[in-house]
Parts: sequence; structure tokens; C-alpha cells
Amino acid sequence: MSDRFTPAAQILKDHNYDSAKLIPILQKVQDAYHFLPEDVMRFIANELGISPAKVFGVATFFAHFAITPKGKHIIRVCNGTACHVKGSAAIIDTVKKKLKLKDGQETTEDLLFTLECVSCLGACGLAPVMVVDEVVHGQVTPAKAEELIDEVIKAEAK
Ligand code: FES
Repeated sequence: MSDRFTPAAQILKDHNYDSAKLIPILQKVQDAYHFLPEDVMRFIANELGISPAKVFGVATFFAHFAITPKGKHIIRVCNGTACHVKGSAAIIDTVKKKLKLKDGQETTEDLLFTLECVSCLGACGLAPVMVVDEVVHGQVTPAKAEELIDEVIKAEAK
């Protein structure tokens, strides 16, 4: 077994190779790998004696599972109606430019950031809203968005 599968093997062991615990297993695997790589999902299927299709099915059904690599830091910009009216498009543009993301690209090459444009986060009173690693920021301007990203970059450089 390659080292690559060691964390997944340990998680399977911790869950007694119980295929009924597939969802918690995938959650732990995602925590360990930051997303669910295809080869790791195949490994899990093989170890649990279930079909890869079943594992892929669960991974793609639940929105909180990621099957493509995610950045270490997740930036969510709300593009719901209230945030849109208050200028979220300009924030999205600024973040994309700052992170040098091409059209359709969500994650930076260095896997430091992922940008997600999401629908209403339920904090419309704070519009426009940007969430950086689960911390909600309200009344965000493009300048403030850049500042928030710079803070993360600075903390990473320490
Ligand atoms: S529209 Fe953005 S929080 Fe509701």
C-alpha cells in the first residue's frame, strides 16, 4: 500500500471497515485530504467491499463533499439578491483578480484559496456578505475584500 493511502486506511480501521459508516468515513477522509481524490475513493470502495460507483454516488450527492481539490482557505461571496443589489459582483471580480483566477477556475494553483459564489447566506441585513474560513464579514467593499485576503496571506507567511 502506498503512503498516500495510509490516512484513509487508518480512518477505515477506526470505523471497523463498516460500510454503513460510509458518510462519516468520507467526512474524515475529506478532512485528511482536503477533498476526496478519485484514487482514494476507489481504495475505500475496495477495502469496504462495495462498488466505487456507490462511493462516488455518496460523494457527489452531498454538497459538503468536494471531489475536486479545494484551497486551504475558503472564501465565499454571497451573490443572493440582497448582496447582488449591494454590489457583490464587484467583490467577486476583485477577489478573482486578486487571486489570479481565470474564468471557471475556483481554486488557486498553489491550493491556498478557493472562491465560491454562493446564494443567500441568510445574513441579508449585512449585505454584501463575504465569508472567509467561516468568519462572516458584512458590508464588504472591494477594498475590504482585498484587505481580508491580504490578512490571510500575511498570516500564512509567518
Ligand atoms: S442575499 Fe446575501 S446574505 Fe442574503
